[in-house]
Amino acid sequence: MNCDLLLQGGHVLVTPDRTVVADVAISQGQIVAIVPQSLNSAEAIDLETDSTQNSITAQQTLDVTGKLLSPPFVESHIHLDSALTAGNPRWNQTGTLFEGIEIWRDRKQNLSLEDVKQRAIATLKQQAMQGVLFVRSHADVSEPSLTALQALLEVREAVQDWMTLQVVAFPQDGIYGGPQNEALLEEALRQGADGVGGIPHYELTREDGVRSIHRIFELAEQYDRWIDIHCDEIDDDQSRFLEVVSACALRREMGDRVAASHTTAFGSYNNAYALKLLGFLQRSRIHFIANPLINITLQGRTDSYPKRRGVTRVKELWQAGLNVSLGHDCIQDPWYSLGTGNMLDVAMMAIHVCQMTGTAEIDTCYNMVTWNGAKTLGVADQYGIEIGQPANLLVLDARDRYDALRRRATIQMVISRGKILAETSPCNPVWLGRE
Ligand code: FE2
Repeated sequence: MNCDLLLQGGHVLVTPDRTVVADVAISQGQIVAIVPQSLNSAEAIDLETDSTQNSITAQQTLDVTGKLLSPPFVESHIHLDSALTAGNPRWNQTGTLFEGIEIWRDRKQNLSLEDVKQRAIATLKQQAMQGVLFVRSHADVSEPSLTALQALLEVREAVQDWMTLQVVAFPQDGIYGGPQNEALLEEALRQGADGVGGIPHYELTREDGVRSIHRIFELAEQYDRWIDIHCDEIDDDQSRFLEVVSACALRREMGDRVAASHTTAFGSYNNAYALKLLGFLQRSRIHFIANPLINITLQGRTDSYPKRRGVTRVKELWQAGLNVSLGHDCIQDPWYSLGTGNMLDVAMMAIHVCQMTGTAEIDTCYNMVTWNGAKTLGVADQYGIEIGQPANLLVLDARDRYDALRRRATIQMVISRGKILAETSPCNPVWLGRE
């Protein structure tokens, strides 16, 4: 067999449960062979080591012995329209979500297509260089011009050769928070947004919040889109829109096409209610997206001590068999002036904030920024290091997931659609002391 690119000797993450030492052959943008280096490895992935596979020649061969070969990172939740605006027009001094919304309200008066496109593409490149090849971004559709949406739809096309970008129509100011907002949301779907968003806890009343969720489901069915709602992103233990989202998904049998983002209030619910809700969620099978970097910094701001972590019940949702993925949410914007887009930082924060320090739990946090994200985004059928899949994969300077997370390992190589998209040299400090 002749192929374009052969990666030899890597520790290949072939499924969330299995790593094999194997050579991976890539041709015409696809993975065409995975050749285990031992019989044990072959059995692990149900492959036979036949003579054809053992005689692979390649245009380019790379020795990746001992390195981790991973499917790419999946960014389940980010706001590309506000990325890289931190400090403009002013810094968020209180660090609260609501000051962030006020600053963004001012900043978005000055959006232009070029402004949003330039920042979004710069952010996507930054993410891709750190191994992110699937991104779901929200686009604020509360402005009559729909500038942010139009810019991100153009970006979606511009980057499609190396990045899969999904755009959610996100009514930042509420569907019923202004007279035009409901129509703007629908117009965003007509213009090509991939999914419908919402923010029920920020509607003017609880009744408006419930009504907004019903409207989101109607629109999703009418326009055949999936749903991703900013849901209960507040410490208020009475913010209970998640149960409404879950019930709508259950009744319309749409659970696999519905994601609840943030759900931070779930961390504040009393255990009796949370346990009942968990059972309902297991029936509706919706996806969850936690954003630990942002949740730990924005929530808990009205507490003195004890101070809540303000993160949803990630561990309990995972233990209940529900799909949880993680997002960065913000990169240098009015809500979070930090961040580089590295998903290992996000998983690392989840390990700490959600107290997932057991070995299986650490691996699970890695899965939450890879396979689980692919499930949330509905791209699992085109994801993973398997023969016949698009050749999207990473070479990490790490032995395994634990090692990658502990050291926030360098993502040495990013391969997208079979082409090398980015390379980074590992940082190798040299000891110059006496001993
Ligand atoms: Fe968000």
